[in-house]
Amino acid sequence: MKEILVTGGLGYIGSHTVVELMMKNYNVSIIDNLSNSEIFILENIEKITGRNPIFFNIDLTDYNKTNSCFTKKNYDGVIHFAAFKSVSESVEYPEKYYSNNLNSLLNILRCMKENKVDNIVFSSSCTVYGQPDDLPVSEKFPFKEAESPYARTKQISENIIKDFVNSTSFLSGISLRYFNPVGAHHSGLIGELPIGIPDNLVPYITQTAAGIRKELQVFGDDYDTHDGTAIRDYIHVEDLAEAHIAALERMCENKMDSEYEYYNIGTGVGNSVLDVVKSFERVNKLKLNYSVIERRSGDIEKIFSDCRISNKKLGWATKKGLDEMMNSAWKWQNNISSFLKG
Ligand code: UFG
Repeated sequence: MKEILVTGGLGYIGSHTVVELMMKNYNVSIIDNLSNSEIFILENIEKITGRNPIFFNIDLTDYNKTNSCFTKKNYDGVIHFAAFKSVSESVEYPEKYYSNNLNSLLNILRCMKENKVDNIVFSSSCTVYGQPDDLPVSEKFPFKEAESPYARTKQISENIIKDFVNSTSFLSGISLRYFNPVGAHHSGLIGELPIGIPDNLVPYITQTAAGIRKELQVFGDDYDTHDGTAIRDYIHVEDLAEAHIAALERMCENKMDSEYEYYNIGTGVGNSVLDVVKSFERVNKLKLNYSVIERRSGDIEKIFSDCRISNKKLGWATKKGLDEMMNSAWKWQNNISSFLKG
């Protein structure tokens, strides 16, 4: 059985990937310092899978502690999620983002190099493309000026991985550039846990429907789109989790065309803010309070993925549509308060 180390394995995308790995019979170790999660997520992973991952509550910016995890097992691969992810916070506190996100990655790569661990899958973002000139966005597009310190940490991280891969004969890396991950596990036992007021659309919608927020503010309806609201490529988090296993298998089975590869992970379909709201209302049979206000600064009009390369090379494709995303997000929202009360 293959041994995989997942950093940030109790986070939103990390926890779904851990479940998927365990369902596929991988042995999983998790490093997570609970900076953006709760310990009940670990218990719920165990409920879903009927198995217990190894859990290290460790801060990845501590090299010695991180390295101590690498000496406990011979890992076949690492999936590195652990990072801060708020665009707006990164603009206010760039030092926090550069320090945490880059030092964590450097420590992981150093440990991999010293302990001869071969394969890393990295959690990147379509934000590395900046404002794309053309749509859909292909992997062939270059990085453009980063829109935020968060975006720049993703660009820098991808380059760091490339340099490490070039520095050894054994390291391989794949960066997965996510579009907009939403929804939750179909069990309703794991999902996104936003701290405070959500920045992102779907947690804001579910919190509004739950009565935690008064109304959703739709940021702008004067974009050049079918209904005037901005367009994104929303992808179900379970489909996204599967892409990590496909990437890992590509590396473990030595199918790589080169030691470092990068893929877009989206559906290829663009949906507007109002498409999302309408799907949420329809599948969950409720009405959402919302009003339209001015555009949010820094937002782009539309972005969606060209998935042809990732579909072909990873042998992976999404299966779930917007309605399943909205249905699972609402199921999760309805469970959160009882989980948090314990
Ligand atoms: N939106 C609203 N109201 C809200 C929240 C969002 O109308 O309360 C709109 C936004 O204006 C945007 C769309 O919903 O048009 C999606 O917004 P999100 O904040 O959910 O997602 P973004 O596309 O802005 O950001 C996401 C990730 C970032 C990543 C970025 C680019 O959250 O981490 O994609 O990759 F950097």
